[in-house]
Amino acid sequence: MLALGFESSCDETGVALVEDGRRVLAAPLFSQIALHRPYGGVVPEYASRAHLEKFTLLTQEILVQHSLRPGDISFVAVTTRPGLVGALLVGYQTARAAARFFRAPLIGVHHLEAHLAAVRLSNIELPYPALGLLLSGGNSAIYRLEQPGCVEKLGDTLDDAAGEALDKAAQILGMGYPGGPLVEEAARAWAETRGITPGDETQIESENIFPIIMHSLPRDKISFSFSGIKTALMRYRTSTPPADIRSLAFFYQERIVEHITRNLRHALDLFPQLPVVAAGGVLANERLRRELTRLCVEKNVQLLIPERAYCTDNAAMVAAAAHLYFARGITSQYANVTSANTFI
Ligand code: KG4
Repeated sequence: MLALGFESSCDETGVALVEDGRRVLAAPLFSQIALHRPYGGVVPEYASRAHLEKFTLLTQEILVQHSLRPGDISFVAVTTRPGLVGALLVGYQTARAAARFFRAPLIGVHHLEAHLAAVRLSNIELPYPALGLLLSGGNSAIYRLEQPGCVEKLGDTLDDAAGEALDKAAQILGMGYPGGPLVEEAARAWAETRGITPGDETQIESENIFPIIMHSLPRDKISFSFSGIKTALMRYRTSTPPADIRSLAFFYQERIVEHITRNLRHALDLFPQLPVVAAGGVLANERLRRELTRLCVEKNVQLLIPERAYCTDNAAMVAAAAHLYFARGITSQYANVTSANTFI
């Protein structure tokens, strides 16, 4: 069963050909990072225009390489929400045209559900019920997943998202965009100079100048907040004598990882038996992946994280999520919006 997926919710233009919701046959992706870098963040209008330019090329590439004809595709999947509205519209219209050409149903997918479904691309079935930890440039939240399209939000962020906090930190530190990988690299380089091996970062915990985020958060609460630590970073950045930028990156990242881990621990206290699916661009972070793994081993629960390549936005995960619906006989483009508890 072949599916075409389309992703354009933010600054990645992606098309993918996926077999049975799991096997990626092609996934050309155009990243707009260079386009937005001078502005330190995504400029919505530039994003829409770049999607418009690239979608035809990427779709053509797949169609030609795989000699696809009408009838070859079982369904077309497209991200419909949430995201930049202009960018989403470009992806939606492209996917609609593709669905017409292939005479296949068009299935609309929630972007956050697609992130979680990315574990399917490693041939791992998305378990239900489960806890879903989503950390991207625009979202930081924990969900209880009941079934496809039916979720309960256990808690989210009061202000920034985790990825946003890392992007802004990199801007404050003059590193560039996107911030997550740059902060991670600077932190790793600094740890090396201190002779700290990966996994042993907490041994210098007492030196961390950043306050623990939401220190007295009750055990039964799940809530993220990153704005306070960002303000602290701004202060330390201009302090005298000037602080080593890489050490700031290291301790800043440590606090963010700690905050995320503490929130997941709270969720596991509430639902001790549930497996955890963790996804979104921030899960590309090795330090975070290690700490979450450590927690889940301690709690004796399964932890599923997509391959690094499928953590950030891509179209294969969109096809993987839509397959969950298609396999249940749901082929309407609005089918997964109507359940009582969607992601919104
Ligand atoms: O999921 P994603 O590709 O796009 C959104 O839907 O937002 O996530 C992008 C976010 C950015 O904030 C980026 O800085 C962050 O993921 N990110 C990382 C890493 N790679 C990307 N954060 C931490 N460490 C990384 N290695």
